[in-house]
Amino acid sequence: MEFSVFAGSSNPSLAKSIAERLAIPLGLRALTRFPDTELRVELKTTVRGRDVYLIQPTGPPVDEHLMDLLLMADACRRAGAAKITAVIPYFGYARQERRVSGRESVGARLVADLIAASGIERVVAVDLHTAALEAVFSIPLEHLSAVPLLAEALRPHLSPKAVVVAPDLGAVKLARRYARILDLPMAIVHKTRISAEQVEAGGVVGDVQGRSPVIVDDMISTGGTIEAAHQALVAAGCAGDALVASTHGLFTGPALERLTALGIRALFTTDSLAMRATPLAIHPVGIAPMLAEAIKRLHEGRSLSDLLARE
Ligand code: R5P
Repeated sequence: MEFSVFAGSSNPSLAKSIAERLAIPLGLRALTRFPDTELRVELKTTVRGRDVYLIQPTGPPVDEHLMDLLLMADACRRAGAAKITAVIPYFGYARQERRVSGRESVGARLVADLIAASGIERVVAVDLHTAALEAVFSIPLEHLSAVPLLAEALRPHLSPKAVVVAPDLGAVKLARRYARILDLPMAIVHKTRISAEQVEAGGVVGDVQGRSPVIVDDMISTGGTIEAAHQALVAAGCAGDALVASTHGLFTGPALERLTALGIRALFTTDSLAMRATPLAIHPVGIAPMLAEAIKRLHEGRSLSDLLARE
């Protein structure tokens, strides 16, 4: 069976790099809008009987990118694709995986259902907000990790007395993976979220006095989590010249101003979301080689185990 790769609208440059690694041209498709703003997808190359991979991180604007993915999948299914895999390096709605206050939606579950209903039979994601998200999918989920790539990018920049820091309890398993790869001690900041843009950091657990922090997270959105963790670490006697690593750089709202004001030494993030020019020097870590390798192995029915996020 032949395979095809299509780019959604959210990160065409990542899709292009993946296709180049796979030495195949990207499938052609058109995305248009009706005057009432509805999106419409039309495939311009055949997918009949093919193993199809759709590359579409569902970052901001999340709903538009999600709808584009669903429409692409629907078009592929109706055009006779044999199997459809969605490669969603950043999975929007991941943080809505449970109800917190009561009368709320559980967005992650609904989105997973929509994905399955569109004809997608398998999802490839990278460093999900929580590994437990696998349970919201009724279809197989391949959960890859960019932590080994980010850790190797960090390595030459580490200070002799570095400590890996989880900026909240949710990041503990992620931080443990970095600490293990880099053979560093680990600390945890206790975070309380006040609102979507504001968090408060409490105590720091672990020996951070006189050490240089390497703050790691799955995503940076408004930068509130990193800002609060950095302030708590400095108050606990850490050096201020932190390194920050995050798989997904959303950089919404005040994120870039906040991160710039902290005076951190360097920020590392992957190209899971389209990279844009920022006043902050960002060390980009490319994930196209990993995603291309995953697609190749999935197509050939080979194991992905060394690429998967393991806790
Ligand atoms: C939440 O627990 C996530 O792992 C991130 O820490 C959080 O979403 C980052 O958001 P922000 O940058 O807005 O604090």
